[in-house]
Amino acid sequence: MTFKTLRDFDLNEKTILLRADLNVPVQDGKVSDTTRIDRLKPTIDYLTTQNCKVIILSHFGRPKGQVNPEYSLKFLPAVLTEQWSINVGFGSDSQENITLLENLRFNPGEEANNIAYAQELASLGDIFVNDAFSTAHRAHASTTGITTLMPSAAGLLMEAELKALTNALEVPQKPVVAIVGGAKISTKLSVLNNLVQKVDYLVLGGGMANTFLFAMGKPVGKSLCEKDMVDEVKSIAAKAKAANCEIILPTDRVAVREFKENAPHEIIGLDHIEDDQETIDIGPQSIKDISAILDDAKTVLWNGPMGVFEMKPFDNGTNKVAQKVAALTKKGKLLSVAGGGDTVSALDNAGIIDDFSYISTAGGAFLEWIEGKDLPGVVALKEQASKAA
Ligand code: 3PG
Repeated sequence: MTFKTLRDFDLNEKTILLRADLNVPVQDGKVSDTTRIDRLKPTIDYLTTQNCKVIILSHFGRPKGQVNPEYSLKFLPAVLTEQWSINVGFGSDSQENITLLENLRFNPGEEANNIAYAQELASLGDIFVNDAFSTAHRAHASTTGITTLMPSAAGLLMEAELKALTNALEVPQKPVVAIVGGAKISTKLSVLNNLVQKVDYLVLGGGMANTFLFAMGKPVGKSLCEKDMVDEVKSIAAKAKAANCEIILPTDRVAVREFKENAPHEIIGLDHIEDDQETIDIGPQSIKDISAILDDAKTVLWNGPMGVFEMKPFDNGTNKVAQKVAALTKKGKLLSVAGGGDTVSALDNAGIIDDFSYISTAGGAFLEWIEGKDLPGVVALKEQASKAA
């Protein structure tokens, strides 16, 4: 089953309802990262060249169905106007060709996927375009309900996200290496259980690697470790073995006594760690081992850092592995896709953000995709397309 795209419609002079994800990070009243805005521009440009009127729909934060000025989108049209070099108006009274409506989540009908609210939105335009892959894991009025009421298509960003993720996980060139880091196994159980069945190598770093090492009987000192997850780890390892997926754990580690930037540290093996020491990064031998696996890889999927990349020099493991993936990508040797949570800032810190094949704008939706779940926003587009066929 597939979905319709912008190219499937005669858009000329139509009013387009464009679901975007303008849930952008804001610090001290300023947008601190414009990635989600910049990545929407191709769709805005495309619709503009087709003489469309565009009404942009987005949520911002979690106001829980209440009108709350703290979560108003009023500040954003000025930023959009600057980033896209085109005037963007605000609210239902706007006369501009491109208009952003107020935060959808001020209406309780949005998150409840209330059909009357979806109808209210649908009455504003001719065609619905969903360009918010990063919100596709939510079954809300503006992501699913609305598709049952009007012709619907994926926008260019949604299409690019789905293409990249499909190439990385559904129809990848092998060998496929998944690199998964982050603090806790408990938050990524479904991700790991799905990935071991799909990839050839699962490289683990970050705090979650400690839990695997602990389950193998290795000492972890005072490292972050979920000791109650041993059964889950064993079950993931058994599933990996059955599926012919090799789990790659660190073979050495950087240990500190104080958890702070530039803390005195030493590189230690796996068989001994003092009780007052904790792991903060992967060591140089682990970096070499991972690099050797990457040399033969054709596809890399990355989520989560290898160590505490927010504190220097403990970003070294993440940086070296990321730089290796980036270099191989630039040489055309592999396809690399990353996303989810703090992955993007970790890769940004490594200075290679533009050298991966694709960096997803999604956090939770990326994780749910790599868990193998169907995303309601994508399913809705496909169902609408099959009904229209
Ligand atoms: C995100 O930032 O991941 C999306 O905008 C979804 O936001 P939500 O988790 O509040 O639904």
